[in-house]
Amino acid sequence: MKRNIVLIGFMGTGKSTVGKILAHKISFEYIDTDREVEKVTGLTISQIFDNHGEQRFRSEESIVAHKVSTLQQKIISTGGGIVLRPENVETLQSTGLLIELTATPEVIWERVSRRSHRPLIKKEMNAEVIAELMAGREPYYQCADYRIDTSEKTLLQVVEEIEKILQ
Ligand code: S3P
Repeated sequence: MKRNIVLIGFMGTGKSTVGKILAHKISFEYIDTDREVEKVTGLTISQIFDNHGEQRFRSEESIVAHKVSTLQQKIISTGGGIVLRPENVETLQSTGLLIELTATPEVIWERVSRRSHRPLIKKEMNAEVIAELMAGREPYYQCADYRIDTSEKTLLQVVEEIEKILQ
């Protein structure tokens, strides 16, 4: 299969970790769109949000979405908001199979509150706020070809599920 495997989904659903393990297992190169944005701009995601605003981040993210879509046979993990721009969805779909990772708001809150590097995650948040944010994002993730709930699965189980999809 020459297509890219593109992992989409809300923050904290395991896209990066699963992507790295999967890439290693099936000997595909791994790309993380957030890391690409950081490389191109020389700034961390938080610095871009704080100093230049979310729209600047979204523009950089779109450029990266186009760039990675010119490649083949990559495992691409994406930032949770990459699907907000329809042109990104179209571009990623043109060369990639889109797999959405999901989890319950409780599990997501548990995961993201442990690490605070995400500009959209504020300290005063809780699982209910996460649930609201997720509900707003839900329509955007409908573009996925497959959806995997990671809430009660180990990373390896999620990876194996993706491998089955690829068979
Ligand atoms: C975002 C998710 C983040 C990162 C940025 C914005 C979002 O990526 O791209 O903070 O809008 O959901 P992760 O999904 O990898 O946390």
